[in-house]
Amino acid sequence: MDASGTVTPFSTLIRTASHQQHTEAENSTFMSDLLGGRLGVEAYARYTEQLWFVYRALEGAADALADDPVAGPFIQPELFRTAELERDLAHLRGPDWRAAAAPLPATTAYAARVEECARTWPAGYIAHHYTRYLGDLSGGQIIRDKAERTWGFARKGDGVRFYVFEQIANPAAFKRGYRELLDRVNADDLEKQRIIDECRRAFDFNGAVFQQLGDEFPLSA
Ligand code: HEM
Repeated sequence: MDASGTVTPFSTLIRTASHQQHTEAENSTFMSDLLGGRLGVEAYARYTEQLWFVYRALEGAADALADDPVAGPFIQPELFRTAELERDLAHLRGPDWRAAAAPLPATTAYAARVEECARTWPAGYIAHHYTRYLGDLSGGQIIRDKAERTWGFARKGDGVRFYVFEQIANPAAFKRGYRELLDRVNADDLEKQRIIDECRRAFDFNGAVFQQLGDEFPLSA
């Protein structure tokens, strides 16, 4: 509650708490180079491959969490991205992409933490769910547009299907509904604070993946 007696909605708290890290993620060397059109398609493919490991962790837990009183309401199949990532990777890398797919150490740690939350702390899983899916529905559209222009993918076609939510006709309305879910989350204030802390961790994991991608794809001066 603030001084005027108004309770700040949880969706606002979590967004505000991650604002600084969001700016850092946007401005990371790897993201800036990618969005600046300075990297080859192989860097984009490697990034997409890392996302595949993360979404397998997020979505591999979905069935087990569907009836969970805290995380259950967030499990919405229209968000699932694994199949889209697999189509994109087949396009980017060819049909044998799986044989060569390898997580960066930061990706392994990220996916392991998502799985751990899913198994032991469903409220923490929400932090990871929020950090990825609400971001994909938002800034993801900017990344898609850039990727289409930079590497010549068909608009909303193979290569960028990850960013296309076929079953969500109105992303802005969906995001409003998602924020209402956050505001109604079945958690007390202490648990909400823990979710916010886990969201910061989720951003840290993404930052670490960007860092390692940046190390792997330095710009040739
Ligand atoms: C260059 C990359 C990025 C760009 C251009 C970008 C851009 C944006 C924009 C414009 C919004 C606002 C949408 C709105 O107000 O409805 C947004 C929201 C969001 N982004 Fe990003 N973003 C980027 C990277 C990331 C990354 C790496 C993450 C985390 C993995 C992330 C997570 C989020 C989240 C969780 C939101 C929702 C905030 C909220 O309304 O609660 N973004 N992004």
